[in-house]
Amino acid sequence: MADSGEPKPHLLLIPYPLQGHIIPAAHLAVKLAAAGFSITFVNTESVHHQTSLAHHQLPSSGDPFSGARDSGRLDIRYELVSDGLPVSFDRSVHHDEFMQHILHRLSSNVEALARRLLPISGLVADTFFVWPATLARSLAVPYVSFWTEPALVFSLYYHMDLLRLNGHFAAGDNRKDMITYVPGVPAIEPSDLTSYLQESDTSSVVHQIILKAFEEAHRADYILCNTVQELEPSTIAAMRKEKPFYAIGPIFPAGFTRSTVETSLWAESDCSHWLNSRPAASVLYISFGSYAHVEKGDLAEIAGGVAESKVSFLWVLRPDVVSSNDTDPLPEGFREETAGRGIVVPWCCQIEVLSHAAIGGFLTHCGWNSILESVWSGVPMICFPLLTDQFTNRKLVVGDWGMGIDLGGGKSQPAVRREEVAAKIDELMRGEDGRRAREGVSRVRGKLEAAVAGGGSSARNFERFVEDLKFCVL
Ligand code: UDX
Repeated sequence: MADSGEPKPHLLLIPYPLQGHIIPAAHLAVKLAAAGFSITFVNTESVHHQTSLAHHQLPSSGDPFSGARDSGRLDIRYELVSDGLPVSFDRSVHHDEFMQHILHRLSSNVEALARRLLPISGLVADTFFVWPATLARSLAVPYVSFWTEPALVFSLYYHMDLLRLNGHFAAGDNRKDMITYVPGVPAIEPSDLTSYLQESDTSSVVHQIILKAFEEAHRADYILCNTVQELEPSTIAAMRKEKPFYAIGPIFPAGFTRSTVETSLWAESDCSHWLNSRPAASVLYISFGSYAHVEKGDLAEIAGGVAESKVSFLWVLRPDVVSSNDTDPLPEGFREETAGRGIVVPWCCQIEVLSHAAIGGFLTHCGWNSILESVWSGVPMICFPLLTDQFTNRKLVVGDWGMGIDLGGGKSQPAVRREEVAAKIDELMRGEDGRRAREGVSRVRGKLEAAVAGGGSSARNFERFVEDLKFCVL
């Protein structure tokens, strides 16, 4: 957009301090800046510290947007707030304490920053925060709620009161009847609800966060969702009757290549050399995302299945994927048994890996970013959800869109057996179900591409949102 010299509306954009939320928020910041907003992107000190180390920089130097800002002449400022804990605090080990601080401490620090940065025209904040509508009201600016998961998941949380009224909220395994009453949402099994809507113990800090965050979401002025209208038409149409709800996904870095914004919380291993040596569509990519933990027994069964399948693989194994005290949880003998046909790395540039021609399948925990990235790369999936929205996302991938195979996963232990893992890997990489899933991915990919192309639904929804917000704030 040409710079008219007019003052730009200034938006404060605050991602949830977890990897799967920071990545799309950073790309949203770039999109909004390119659409003529002045953006202040707010990271926590801890995220900043970790990102700097991952990118081999001193935490005192620079900010992650310097590359994007220079190449696009974008108006993006970068600010830090404390989440109330020292940067050295291990947030993965002491997760509840971390969440308590997000719940109770972050808002006052964000408010102090917002007041220091006035004038502000709007607050763009992750839907999972428990304070944005309240803060936006006190600053007399609109609250734009940014939702990084499918519209279906948003709608289920948004209509939690209906689930409660009908006895499906926190029902554990006690209810088997379909949920048919959520506006716009096609009938859904209770086991396809997010883990937090299923669990009968609702005393956890995450439950408190969700309850409060969706009270705030009910007061949001606009909702941006990283999905595509053609994928979830009835859910989105129903949400639009409630709120100005814009499906603007998929939100990716420009060109779907390594981002110019430094968002990675861990150093990325370079896998390209190894991938270049493998035949097309021969490698299974395995990752459980940035956040979830896997039971050690399940990991052993999955490893056994990978070994038995004889498939080539690239496995991202975060050092804390089982627990921080068990940094090499693979079963004894696995590395020897699979030597020469697989590599295990702690973290990688996932979009680079997924878009490499050697990748033929993705064994995924069904994080929403991973699903969108896999579809964009034309890669079919084996689904092994672990928590939160991942169960609902699996329903979309396997049941609704025919893009993958279900590996089960759930409450019993172990949730999977090695023979089953091996058989499903074989089916995905070489079988008829795999071929069908590849076709499903290709169909959905067409919808994603059309949505973000000029005149497509996501492109138009984004333009409409920009017009609506500018009309409101200018
Ligand atoms: C959680 C939720 O499940 C997800 O639906 C929500 O949108 C974000 O939080 P998470 O574990 O973060 O999930 O997974 P995912 O949504 O897949 O996001 C992980 C991100 O990290 C992806 O963008 C992926 O490209 C990136 N990643 C992952 C890497 O860059 N390298 C890796 O090695 C693994």
